[in-house]
Amino acid sequence: MMLQTLKGRSLLTWLDYTAEEIRSLLDFSRLLKAEKNRTQGRLAGKTIALLFEKRSTRTRCAFETAFGEEGGHPVFLSTADIQLGAKESIEDTARVLGRMFSAIQFRGFKQSTVETLAEYSGVPVYNGLTDSFHPTQALADIMTIEENFGPAGGKKLCFVGDGRNNVARSLMVICAKLGLHFTVITPPALNPGDALTGQCRILAAASGADITVTADPAAVEGAEAVYTDVWVSMGEEAKREERLALLRPYQVNRALMDRTGRRDSIFLHCLPAVKGEEVTPEVIDGPQSRAWDEAENRKHTIKAIILATLG
Ligand code: CP
Ligand code: NVA
Repeated sequence: MMLQTLKGRSLLTWLDYTAEEIRSLLDFSRLLKAEKNRTQGRLAGKTIALLFEKRSTRTRCAFETAFGEEGGHPVFLSTADIQLGAKESIEDTARVLGRMFSAIQFRGFKQSTVETLAEYSGVPVYNGLTDSFHPTQALADIMTIEENFGPAGGKKLCFVGDGRNNVARSLMVICAKLGLHFTVITPPALNPGDALTGQCRILAAASGADITVTADPAAVEGAEAVYTDVWVSMGEEAKREERLALLRPYQVNRALMDRTGRRDSIFLHCLPAVKGEEVTPEVIDGPQSRAWDEAENRKHTIKAIILATLG
Protein backbone atom coordinates (compact mmCIF):
# COMPACT_ATOMS: atom_id res chain seq x y z
CA MET A 1 0.00 0.00 0.00
CA MET A 2 2.59 2.51 1.20
CA LEU A 3 4.77 1.44 -1.76
CA GLN A 4 2.35 3.45 -3.96
CA THR A 5 3.71 6.69 -2.51
CA LEU A 6 7.20 5.83 -3.72
CA LYS A 7 6.50 5.93 -7.46
CA GLY A 8 8.83 8.38 -9.16
CA ARG A 9 10.79 9.14 -5.98
CA SER A 10 14.56 9.46 -5.69
CA LEU A 11 16.55 8.08 -2.77
CA LEU A 12 19.24 10.57 -1.75
CA THR A 13 19.08 10.03 2.04
CA TRP A 14 16.59 8.33 4.37
CA LEU A 15 15.88 11.78 5.85
CA ASP A 16 13.43 12.18 2.94
CA TYR A 17 11.43 9.01 3.78
CA THR A 18 8.90 8.28 6.51
CA ALA A 19 9.25 5.31 8.83
CA GLU A 20 6.22 3.72 7.12
CA GLU A 21 7.80 4.06 3.69
CA ILE A 22 11.05 2.50 4.90
CA ARG A 23 9.06 -0.29 6.58
CA SER A 24 7.24 -1.02 3.31
CA LEU A 25 10.58 -1.31 1.49
CA LEU A 26 11.87 -3.74 4.13
CA ASP A 27 8.76 -5.90 3.82
CA PHE A 28 9.00 -5.83 0.03
CA SER A 29 12.72 -6.77 0.20
CA ARG A 30 11.81 -9.85 2.23
CA LEU A 31 9.27 -10.91 -0.41
CA LEU A 32 11.81 -10.39 -3.19
CA LYS A 33 14.40 -12.47 -1.33
CA ALA A 34 11.86 -15.30 -1.09
CA GLU A 35 11.53 -15.18 -4.89
CA LYS A 36 15.17 -16.39 -5.02
CA ASN A 37 16.33 -14.15 -7.88
CA ARG A 38 13.69 -15.50 -10.29
CA THR A 39 13.46 -13.44 -13.45
CA GLN A 40 10.17 -11.52 -13.49
CA GLY A 41 10.43 -8.88 -16.20
CA ARG A 42 8.91 -6.09 -14.09
CA LEU A 43 11.38 -3.57 -15.54
CA ALA A 44 11.03 -4.59 -19.19
CA GLY A 45 11.78 -1.61 -21.40
CA LYS A 46 13.36 0.41 -18.56
CA THR A 47 16.95 1.62 -18.50
CA ILE A 48 19.25 2.86 -15.73
CA ALA A 49 22.51 4.83 -15.96
CA LEU A 50 24.95 3.65 -13.28
CA LEU A 51 27.40 6.51 -12.68
CA PHE A 52 30.53 5.72 -10.68
CA GLU A 53 33.22 8.19 -9.56
CA LYS A 54 34.42 5.63 -6.99
CA ARG A 55 34.94 1.89 -7.19
CA SER A 56 32.29 -0.67 -6.24
CA THR A 57 31.71 -4.40 -6.17
CA ARG A 58 28.44 -4.91 -4.26
CA THR A 59 26.52 -1.78 -5.20
CA ARG A 60 27.28 -2.02 -8.90
CA CYS A 61 26.59 -5.76 -9.03
CA ALA A 62 23.38 -5.43 -7.01
CA PHE A 63 22.03 -2.75 -9.35
CA GLU A 64 23.12 -4.62 -12.49
CA THR A 65 21.77 -8.02 -11.46
CA ALA A 66 18.55 -6.68 -9.94
CA PHE A 67 17.82 -4.58 -13.01
CA GLY A 68 18.79 -7.35 -15.43
CA GLU A 69 16.66 -10.00 -13.70
CA GLU A 70 13.64 -7.75 -14.10
CA GLY A 71 14.24 -7.36 -17.83
CA GLY A 72 15.68 -3.83 -17.65
CA HIS A 73 18.90 -2.58 -19.22
CA PRO A 74 21.63 -1.15 -16.94
CA VAL A 75 24.45 0.94 -18.45
CA PHE A 76 27.65 1.30 -16.40
CA LEU A 77 29.41 4.67 -16.83
CA SER A 78 32.56 5.62 -14.94
CA THR A 79 34.25 9.00 -15.01
CA ALA A 80 36.62 7.48 -17.57
CA ASP A 81 33.62 7.13 -19.91
CA ILE A 82 31.53 10.28 -19.55
CA GLN A 83 31.79 13.95 -18.66
CA LEU A 84 30.61 14.45 -15.11
CA GLY A 85 31.33 17.98 -14.07
CA ALA A 86 34.63 17.98 -15.98
CA LYS A 87 33.82 19.27 -19.48
CA GLU A 88 30.09 19.39 -18.96
CA SER A 89 28.19 20.61 -15.92
CA ILE A 90 26.37 18.09 -13.71
CA GLU A 91 23.13 19.93 -14.56
CA ASP A 92 23.58 19.38 -18.30
CA THR A 93 24.60 15.75 -17.87
CA ALA A 94 21.50 15.25 -15.71
CA ARG A 95 19.24 16.83 -18.33
CA VAL A 96 20.62 14.59 -21.09
CA LEU A 97 20.55 11.36 -19.07
CA GLY A 98 16.99 12.15 -17.99
CA ARG A 99 15.97 12.23 -21.67
CA MET A 100 17.44 8.77 -22.31
CA PHE A 101 17.16 6.73 -19.10
CA SER A 102 14.34 5.73 -16.78
CA ALA A 103 16.56 6.22 -13.69
CA ILE A 104 20.09 7.11 -12.54
CA GLN A 105 22.33 5.68 -9.83
CA PHE A 106 25.25 7.81 -8.65
CA ARG A 107 28.25 6.82 -6.53
CA GLY A 108 30.84 9.47 -5.88
CA PHE A 109 32.16 12.21 -3.66
CA LYS A 110 29.71 15.04 -3.11
CA GLN A 111 26.14 14.72 -1.86
CA SER A 112 25.45 17.89 -3.87
CA THR A 113 26.15 15.96 -7.10
CA VAL A 114 23.44 13.37 -6.44
CA GLU A 115 21.08 16.20 -5.42
CA THR A 116 21.79 18.07 -8.67
CA LEU A 117 21.23 14.91 -10.72
CA ALA A 118 17.85 14.46 -9.04
CA GLU A 119 16.90 18.10 -9.51
CA TYR A 120 17.75 18.34 -13.21
CA SER A 121 17.17 14.85 -14.65
CA GLY A 122 13.46 14.49 -13.97
CA VAL A 123 13.87 10.75 -13.26
CA PRO A 124 14.41 8.83 -10.00
CA VAL A 125 18.01 9.10 -8.79
CA TYR A 126 19.51 6.66 -6.28
CA ASN A 127 22.46 7.50 -4.03
CA GLY A 128 24.85 4.56 -4.29
CA LEU A 129 27.26 6.23 -1.78
CA THR A 130 28.61 9.73 -1.36
CA ASP A 131 31.00 11.14 1.22
CA SER A 132 27.92 11.97 3.33
CA PHE A 133 25.54 9.01 3.05
CA HIS A 134 25.14 5.39 1.89
CA PRO A 135 21.37 4.86 2.15
CA THR A 136 20.98 1.65 0.11
CA GLN A 137 23.53 0.01 2.41
CA ALA A 138 21.60 0.95 5.54
CA LEU A 139 18.40 -0.68 4.25
CA ALA A 140 20.24 -3.99 3.72
CA ASP A 141 21.74 -3.67 7.21
CA ILE A 142 18.33 -3.30 8.86
CA MET A 143 16.98 -6.18 6.78
CA THR A 144 19.83 -8.36 8.09
CA ILE A 145 19.17 -7.35 11.70
CA GLU A 146 15.49 -8.22 11.26
CA GLU A 147 16.35 -11.63 9.78
CA ASN A 148 18.10 -12.42 13.05
CA PHE A 149 16.04 -10.60 15.68
CA GLY A 150 12.63 -9.78 14.17
CA PRO A 151 11.20 -6.24 13.95
CA ALA A 152 14.01 -3.73 14.37
CA GLY A 153 12.28 -1.29 16.74
CA GLY A 154 13.80 -1.37 20.24
CA LYS A 155 16.87 -3.38 19.21
CA LYS A 156 20.36 -1.97 19.83
CA LEU A 157 22.89 -1.44 17.03
CA CYS A 158 26.42 -0.20 17.82
CA PHE A 159 28.64 1.25 15.13
CA VAL A 160 32.27 1.07 16.24
CA GLY A 161 34.90 3.03 14.28
CA ASP A 162 34.86 6.08 12.01
CA GLY A 163 31.67 7.69 13.28
CA ARG A 164 31.68 10.49 10.73
CA ASN A 165 31.66 8.30 7.65
CA ASN A 166 28.84 7.75 5.16
CA VAL A 167 27.83 4.34 6.55
CA ALA A 168 27.64 5.47 10.20
CA ARG A 169 25.66 8.57 9.25
CA SER A 170 23.12 6.64 7.17
CA LEU A 171 22.68 4.09 9.95
CA MET A 172 22.04 6.89 12.42
CA VAL A 173 19.27 8.29 10.22
CA ILE A 174 17.54 4.98 9.49
CA CYS A 175 17.71 3.90 13.15
CA ALA A 176 16.28 7.23 14.30
CA LYS A 177 13.40 6.82 11.86
CA LEU A 178 12.65 3.19 12.70
CA GLY A 179 13.13 3.31 16.48
CA LEU A 180 16.33 1.26 16.79
CA HIS A 181 18.67 2.34 19.56
CA PHE A 182 21.87 3.46 17.82
CA THR A 183 25.19 3.95 19.58
CA VAL A 184 28.20 5.36 17.74
CA ILE A 185 31.43 4.38 19.48
CA THR A 186 34.12 6.62 18.05
CA PRO A 187 36.89 8.96 19.15
CA PRO A 188 35.57 12.52 19.70
CA ALA A 189 37.43 13.77 16.61
CA LEU A 190 35.37 11.44 14.41
CA ASN A 191 31.85 11.98 15.74
CA PRO A 192 28.99 12.09 13.19
CA GLY A 193 28.58 15.87 13.49
CA ASP A 194 26.33 17.93 15.75
CA ALA A 195 23.93 18.94 12.97
CA LEU A 196 23.02 15.40 11.89
CA THR A 197 23.10 14.05 15.44
CA GLY A 198 20.71 16.79 16.56
CA GLN A 199 18.39 16.14 13.62
CA CYS A 200 18.39 12.40 14.35
CA ARG A 201 17.68 12.98 18.04
CA ILE A 202 14.55 14.93 17.08
CA LEU A 203 13.43 12.02 14.84
CA ALA A 204 14.32 9.56 17.58
CA ALA A 205 12.08 11.35 20.06
CA ALA A 206 9.15 10.41 17.82
CA SER A 207 10.25 6.81 17.11
CA GLY A 208 11.45 5.90 20.61
CA ALA A 209 15.09 5.38 19.59
CA ASP A 210 18.05 6.38 21.77
CA ILE A 211 20.87 7.97 19.79
CA THR A 212 24.15 7.85 21.71
CA VAL A 213 27.60 9.09 20.70
CA THR A 214 30.43 7.95 22.97
CA ALA A 215 34.15 7.18 22.90
CA ASP A 216 33.75 4.23 25.28
CA PRO A 217 33.82 0.72 23.73
CA ALA A 218 32.05 -0.60 26.87
CA ALA A 219 28.88 0.90 25.35
CA VAL A 220 28.49 -2.25 23.20
CA GLU A 221 26.90 -3.88 26.24
CA GLY A 222 23.52 -5.39 25.39
CA ALA A 223 23.81 -4.78 21.62
CA GLU A 224 22.11 -7.21 19.28
CA ALA A 225 24.39 -6.03 16.46
CA VAL A 226 27.94 -4.65 16.35
CA TYR A 227 28.89 -2.94 13.10
CA THR A 228 32.15 -1.60 11.74
CA ASP A 229 33.49 -0.22 8.46
CA VAL A 230 36.93 0.55 7.08
CA TRP A 231 39.03 3.09 8.95
CA VAL A 232 39.95 4.86 5.71
CA SER A 233 37.08 5.49 3.32
CA MET A 234 37.46 5.92 -0.42
CA GLY A 235 38.94 9.30 -1.29
CA GLU A 236 40.42 9.80 2.21
CA GLU A 237 43.63 7.81 1.70
CA ALA A 238 45.81 10.82 2.64
CA LYS A 239 44.43 10.60 6.18
CA ARG A 240 45.42 6.96 6.64
CA GLU A 241 48.06 7.37 9.36
CA GLU A 242 45.95 9.85 11.33
CA ARG A 243 42.89 7.55 11.17
CA LEU A 244 44.81 4.44 12.20
CA ALA A 245 46.28 6.26 15.20
CA LEU A 246 42.80 7.37 16.30
CA LEU A 247 40.97 4.11 15.60
CA ARG A 248 43.32 1.33 16.78
CA PRO A 249 41.55 1.12 20.17
CA TYR A 250 38.27 0.56 18.31
CA GLN A 251 39.03 -2.71 16.53
CA VAL A 252 36.14 -5.20 16.60
CA ASN A 253 37.70 -8.40 17.96
CA ARG A 254 36.64 -11.35 20.06
CA ALA A 255 37.06 -9.38 23.30
CA LEU A 256 34.87 -6.53 22.05
CA MET A 257 32.14 -8.90 20.83
CA ASP A 258 32.19 -10.55 24.27
CA ARG A 259 31.54 -7.15 25.85
CA THR A 260 28.00 -7.19 24.40
CA GLY A 261 27.30 -9.77 27.10
CA ARG A 262 25.07 -11.62 24.62
CA ARG A 263 25.97 -14.89 22.96
CA ASP A 264 23.51 -14.24 20.14
CA SER A 265 24.87 -10.82 19.14
CA ILE A 266 25.78 -10.53 15.46
CA PHE A 267 28.60 -8.78 13.62
CA LEU A 268 27.90 -6.61 10.57
CA HIS A 269 30.21 -4.94 8.03
CA CYS A 270 29.20 -3.20 4.80
CA LEU A 271 32.36 -4.57 3.10
CA PRO A 272 34.94 -4.37 1.68
CA ALA A 273 36.80 -5.13 4.94
CA VAL A 274 40.45 -4.74 5.84
CA LYS A 275 40.84 -7.81 8.03
CA GLY A 276 43.27 -7.16 10.85
CA GLU A 277 42.45 -3.43 10.95
CA GLU A 278 38.86 -2.60 11.86
CA VAL A 279 37.91 -6.27 12.43
CA THR A 280 39.81 -9.45 13.17
CA PRO A 281 39.44 -12.46 10.84
CA GLU A 282 38.04 -14.56 13.70
CA VAL A 283 35.09 -12.19 14.06
CA ILE A 284 34.26 -11.46 10.41
CA ASP A 285 34.79 -15.08 9.37
CA GLY A 286 33.37 -16.49 12.60
CA PRO A 287 29.92 -17.73 13.68
CA GLN A 288 28.57 -14.34 14.76
CA SER A 289 29.27 -12.69 11.41
CA ARG A 290 26.32 -11.92 9.13
CA ALA A 291 28.44 -9.86 6.71
CA TRP A 292 27.80 -12.25 3.80
CA ASP A 293 24.00 -12.31 4.27
CA GLU A 294 24.22 -8.53 4.52
CA ALA A 295 26.07 -8.37 1.17
CA GLU A 296 23.42 -10.57 -0.47
CA ASN A 297 20.70 -8.39 1.02
CA ARG A 298 22.10 -5.39 -0.89
CA LYS A 299 20.59 -6.95 -4.00
CA HIS A 300 17.13 -7.64 -2.56
CA THR A 301 16.85 -4.20 -0.97
CA ILE A 302 18.10 -2.40 -4.09
CA LYS A 303 15.62 -4.38 -6.18
CA ALA A 304 12.86 -3.32 -3.78
CA ILE A 305 13.85 0.35 -4.06
CA ILE A 306 13.98 0.21 -7.87
CA LEU A 307 10.69 -1.67 -8.28
CA ALA A 308 8.86 0.58 -5.81
CA THR A 309 10.01 3.76 -7.49
CA LEU A 310 10.05 2.60 -11.13
CA GLY A 311 8.17 -0.68 -11.53
N1 CP B 1 29.17 -2.04 0.68
C1 CP B 1 29.40 -1.51 -0.53
O1 CP B 1 28.86 -0.48 -0.91
O2 CP B 1 30.27 -2.22 -1.30
P1 CP B 1 30.88 -1.74 -2.68
O3 CP B 1 31.79 -0.58 -2.38
O4 CP B 1 31.62 -2.94 -3.19
O5 CP B 1 29.76 -1.32 -3.58
N1 NVA C 1 32.95 4.08 4.20
C1 NVA C 1 33.32 3.26 3.06
C2 NVA C 1 32.16 2.46 2.61
C3 NVA C 1 32.42 1.55 1.45
C4 NVA C 1 31.20 0.79 1.03
C5 NVA C 1 33.84 4.16 1.96
O1 NVA C 1 33.24 5.20 1.72
O2 NVA C 1 34.86 3.82 1.35
